[in-house]
Amino acid sequence: MRGTVILAAIVAFLAAVFLFACTRRRGACAGAVMRSTSASRSYAVVSDSQIRHATVERFLWEIWNEKPFRFTPRQVARFTRNYSTRLGAGGFATVFRGALPNGLAVAVKVFHAGLGARAEQEQFMAEVGTIGRTHHINLVRLFGFCFDDALRALVYEYMEHGALDAYLLGGRGQDAGVAALRGIAVGVARGMRYLHDECQQKIVHYDIKPGNVLLDGELTPKVADFGLARLVNRADTHVSVSCVRGTPGFAAPEMWMMSGITEKCDVYSFGMLLLEIVGRRRNFDEAAPESQQWFPKLAWAKYEAGEIMELAAAWSGSNGSGGSASAAGDEVQSKEMVERMCKVAFWCVQQPPEARPPMGAVVKMLEGEMEIAPPANPFQHLMAPPVVAAQWTRMTRSASSVPEISIEIA
Ligand SMILES: Nc1ncnc2c1ncn2[C@@H]1O[C@H](COP(=O)(O)OP(=O)(O)O)[C@@H](O)[C@H]1O
Ligand SMILES: [Mg+2]
Repeated sequence: MRGTVILAAIVAFLAAVFLFACTRRRGACAGAVMRSTSASRSYAVVSDSQIRHATVERFLWEIWNEKPFRFTPRQVARFTRNYSTRLGAGGFATVFRGALPNGLAVAVKVFHAGLGARAEQEQFMAEVGTIGRTHHINLVRLFGFCFDDALRALVYEYMEHGALDAYLLGGRGQDAGVAALRGIAVGVARGMRYLHDECQQKIVHYDIKPGNVLLDGELTPKVADFGLARLVNRADTHVSVSCVRGTPGFAAPEMWMMSGITEKCDVYSFGMLLLEIVGRRRNFDEAAPESQQWFPKLAWAKYEAGEIMELAAAWSGSNGSGGSASAAGDEVQSKEMVERMCKVAFWCVQQPPEARPPMGAVVKMLEGEMEIAPPANPFQHLMAPPVVAAQWTRMTRSASSVPEISIEIA
């Protein structure tokens, strides 16, 4: 009898331990976004009928004020008509066109399977954790997401004119006037000023480039693709990063050294983006004649020689003001705007991060509310005569018995 009681007690104890372990495991598997029951409750899936029966205004008002909705994989498949229209793709995801049951157009970013659970979760959390908690006219809106074993996806507002790089290189951008392009530059700068200085927690984007700026139907630019972004405490003077972030040609030099990184790395990238807007071309164009391959250096040479108008001349005659001003007036205005954009860009791409202006000053300078001091040559280190190299080359030339070598400084 006693033996049976002891045996029953042991069985009950083991069962309790087993149940406890199971609940803990389930919590862990659910992933970071729904670690606690309260978190999963606040991210309850929203039903189609809830969306359909709300008026668009109420719906928009609600999502404007609320955090992103959670959707199921079946809903996402319905929204995108089974992923039938592909809008674009990047390294981590493919973006599809879709519509919510109330007709609101959306773009659905579906993370690639097999990316590796960690990399995928990091990207996912970076986007939801940053853009999911911000609201600004110049930042793309995140309406919702799907976080499921079968599907990780983000549901964004649909941006009619797509990415800025495609716009600049395509016909529409080539025809755009100086004022329209300056408007785009100011919008991007305002979105970035909000990220750095105005939202509750500072956000560093780390991947500012024309491919990550989207344009809506009215050509309002919106900063997108927050997959590398990080929230930063305002008290922190520097951000530590565990790997190189960003895109070659846009990432600030300190990013490659992985030290001394602040939000000024975004300012550098913005400067490079601004130069692509001014040039309406990629900063690096292998197909161009050698002296024109790297647009930032070409732009500096023109600026220094007082030939900024040659850059402006490549733009269409319109200044975007509807053609009311005279042609000569347009030209003066265009020149002034192009010069302003170039000077701001040169300040932004200065080598020492502390020499670059904060985004608040960038906005004011672009808007013409702040005088712009003449910038120092940001490419000095690239243009300096290669003294050491020349010396070595001379030495090798004079010693005829030694095979000639030369050292090139990139
Ligand atoms: N909200 C959107 N509206 C319209 N097109 C979009 C939208 N989001 C992304 N795209 C298109 O998809 C491309 C890749 O999106 P992006 O967010 O940059 O993904 P990745 O992280 O994979 O680079 C963009 O360059 C753009 O052409
Ligand atoms: Mg991208």
